[in-house]
Amino acid sequence: MNIGFFDSGMGGITVLADALNFFNSQNFIYYADTKNVPYGIKKKAKVKKYIFDSVDFLVDKKIDGLVVACNTATSIAINDLRKRYAFPIIGMEPAVKPAVEKNNKKGKNKKVLVLATELTLKERKFNNLVKKLNSRDIVESLPLSKLVTYVEDKMFEEKKIFKYLKKKFKNIDFKEFSTVVLGCTHFIFYLNYFKKFLPDDIKIIDGNIGTIKHLKNILFNKGFSLNEDNKKNNINFYSSKKSDKDYKKFIFLLNYYNQNIRRNIKCL
Ligand code: DGL
Repeated sequence: MNIGFFDSGMGGITVLADALNFFNSQNFIYYADTKNVPYGIKKKAKVKKYIFDSVDFLVDKKIDGLVVACNTATSIAINDLRKRYAFPIIGMEPAVKPAVEKNNKKGKNKKVLVLATELTLKERKFNNLVKKLNSRDIVESLPLSKLVTYVEDKMFEEKKIFKYLKKKFKNIDFKEFSTVVLGCTHFIFYLNYFKKFLPDDIKIIDGNIGTIKHLKNILFNKGFSLNEDNKKNNINFYSSKKSDKDYKKFIFLLNYYNQNIRRNIKCL
């Protein structure tokens, strides 16, 4: 099957890498809108146009399904995308539901901190989700937009990342929180830094595994089986800048993720 992956830039690699680790014999086509990244600090109408242009590009590549590996794009365009295209479309949203459930199970009157882009946090989709879960009193949020640019710049200097986190978290008392949600696919590149920076008892969760599970169910419904013919996955990469530099960056970040972050999800 031809499975399209789309993100504003390189953040969706964290989802793709988890998918590559789980599937075999599939054809993955990744599209990064490198001309327009970051989305999260731009106007919604502009970003919506970027998303449709990007998905149209993937449609030309004859995809059978699409993973919108971007919380920001999902929050502003998933409904319109589903109206426009007939193939299955899997979106991503900050993993607030599992975070709130985990938090409430612990029963210690603690809170959940959602980290995402400005646009995701401003959007109706996120706010409706929090409302639906009756969790307005226990969910707080904070945009960490700069981390998107850091990933795009391949910036993994611990000192610089910690300095930024320290500044952004200066008014947060982590004693009040049980869980942190990484609600932007770019942020997952810094999972190890978050683990090191945050107090040990803070749970850190993201939506990648849930997304892979969802993709698996959709593929199974289409009659695909995991050990189809046990061939290696094939990956094609495209970007709106169409530059060789983008391809090199994609390979660098995919390797970085596989070497430092990749989770074992064979048991899904
Ligand atoms: N990776 C994207 C997300 O999950 C957004 C990055 C951006 O601001 O472009 O929200």
